[in-house]
Formats: sequence, structure tokens, C-alpha cells
Amino acid sequence: MERSELPVLFFDSGVGGISILRRSVRLLPCEDYLYFGDSLHAPYGVRSLGEVRELCLNALEPLIARGVKALVVACNTATSAAIGALRERYPDLIVIGTEPAIKPAVERHEGGRILVMATPMTLKEEKFLALQAQYQPRAEIIPLPCPGLMEFVEQGVTSGGAVEGYLLDKLEPYRNVPVSAIVLGCTHYPFLTGAIRRIVGRHVEIIDGADGVAQQLRSRLAAENLLSARTEPGRVAFENSLDQPEILELCRTLLNAPEE
Ligand code: DGL
Repeated sequence: MERSELPVLFFDSGVGGISILRRSVRLLPCEDYLYFGDSLHAPYGVRSLGEVRELCLNALEPLIARGVKALVVACNTATSAAIGALRERYPDLIVIGTEPAIKPAVERHEGGRILVMATPMTLKEEKFLALQAQYQPRAEIIPLPCPGLMEFVEQGVTSGGAVEGYLLDKLEPYRNVPVSAIVLGCTHYPFLTGAIRRIVGRHVEIIDGADGVAQQLRSRLAAENLLSARTEPGRVAFENSLDQPEILELCRTLLNAPEE
């Protein structure tokens, strides 16, 4: 098979990376996609760096061995822990990571106050600290660790009392000290945009990095002449380390859910 007709592999600790996959499918509908979620080991964001790196390398090895033309690490936490090791291990593969969309948020809200919601690991790691140091002179960047939040999405819970109670608890302090934007620094959180919006109101911009990653995928594939030549819609296949049909059903539901 031509290399350009191999699938693009998406990887996340669970179902969150589908928030990036859906934008990629919209931008590049003729590609084939294989999405793998490591829900068996989720959450990643409260584990140690070394543990997450091992989990990523182990899960990805057999998937990459099947033949893929690009890897999108659709997870901020896994990117912080493993992107360097993955690029080293697969020097000939296009490997794209995900990071909190602080740059576009600061460009749109110079001098503003920007809240970054992410897992504890993402907010502790070098990648985030470097971004914060780089952009802090241009805006106030406030990290907001959200342990326990991705679990709602993993359970298919994106609205209702339990998740809205969690979010209210986290976001209540910023109702009196208003923020200009909220960066969703975990790929699970875009599925909670509606619930977050109901708490913070219409005037706070909610930003995620999904379009940036999808555009990066398109330009990297184009640069290496690896865009599919097909003109009909490609296939999206889901696999998960949890051996349960329900999780695959949730993946399909999230892919097709209307965006709030
Ligand atoms: N989806 C994830 C992220 O972007 C991680 C969630 C987790 O496993 O803790 O960081």
C-alpha cells in the first residue's frame, strides 16, 4: 500500500483526544484514522512522568508497527511526558503533540487574565512552565489543576449536577475576579464547554488547541506528500485498552456529538 494511504494514528489516555480527531476529520475527511484510547490506565494526569512515558511507549509500539503515516498525541499530559521519547524512537514518523493553547489566548487577550484548566501533571511539567514564563509578561496566566474532571467525560457524563458541581467549585473564585479567557489544556475538557459556559457566562472566551493541531497535521502531511489521494470519505476506527463495547460506543457518540 502507498504510504500516503496508511491511517493517521490518534492517541490519548482515553476518549478526550476525540475533541481533536473531530476537527481533523472535518479538515481532512478523506484520510483514514485509527483512534486508540488507553482508558484502562486513565487518568494519566495524576501519575508520575516516568509511568506515563512507559504507558505511552508500550501502547503505541504495536499500533505503529501495523503501519501508520503520522501520530497525533491528542493528549496534553502524554505530550508532556513522552513526546521527546516518541520522536527519538520514531525519527521517520510525523509525530505531532498537543499543548495548552496559551499563545492564541494571549494574542487575543493581551493584558488579560487567562485561566488554564489542565491535569496536575500538565501544569507541573516543563512544557507548560516554559509557555507560562514566555507569555506571563503579556497576560496573567493562572493554572487551574482539575484532578478528577476527565473522569466525567470517560464516563460519558458531560452535563448534569455532578460535573456542574465540580466545575462550580473550581470556577466560583473567578466569578468575582473575572477572566478574559479559559484555555482548555486537557483534550477531554472541550466536551464540557457547554457546562463551563453555563457557569462563566458568554463573555469569557473558551479556547482549545484542536484546530491548531488539525492544521499542523494537514501541513506536515502536505509537506511530506502524504495526503491521501482518495476523494471519498475515509474510515474512522476506534480501539481501546478497555475491553468493553461501551467505551467504543462512547467514542462514536463523542465523535458525532454537536459542539456546544
Ligand atoms: N486528555 C488528557 C490531556 O489532554 C489527559 C487526561 C488524563 O489522563 O489525566 O491531558
